[in-house]
Amino acid sequence: MSRRAIYPGSFDPVTNGHLDIIERACKLFDEVIVAILVNSGKQPMFSLAERVEMLNMVLNARHPRARVETFDGLLVDYATSRQAQAIVRGIRAISDYEYELQMTLMNRRLNPQVETVFMMSAEEYSFLRSSLVKEVFRLGGSIQGLVPDDVIERMREKLGPREQAG
Ligand code: PNS
Repeated sequence: MSRRAIYPGSFDPVTNGHLDIIERACKLFDEVIVAILVNSGKQPMFSLAERVEMLNMVLNARHPRARVETFDGLLVDYATSRQAQAIVRGIRAISDYEYELQMTLMNRRLNPQVETVFMMSAEEYSFLRSSLVKEVFRLGGSIQGLVPDDVIERMREKLGPREQAG
């Protein structure tokens, strides 16, 4: 039986930490659907279409088992509609645990058939969050190595080149 997982998130923008988790998930599952939440209530830097395009750009070359979709509504309903057996989430530090536990238990209550699988990203990305990347970039700090170079280019196009601190 073919094993399919959903890796959901906002991906605003995709970071090397996300890519690290996708790579690990691709070793466990036959197919990984990277699913961007349509309306998170957050004010995104990138539109949904831009996030889809950026993810496709960085995934296509490297991860043939991964593909990008968008979803709205309950994650477990979307996972069921895609016949996925699992939801993949990355855990960075212990501070992520409580939020992830709440989501997992709620999702399990909503649909016990869908398992959540947690994966640890590589050590060097354990502090990485899209929101931090955006803040550092806005303030002129270097985000080299934290997000793909193509994504840095998109951020420059959107916000203009930044003075690099240090
Ligand atoms: O990367 P993020 O922003 O932390 O991802 C959060 C996400 C998309 C996984 C979460 O907000 C979600 O699943 N939203 C869909 C709506 C839903 O199912 N809510 C109940 C989850 S317990």
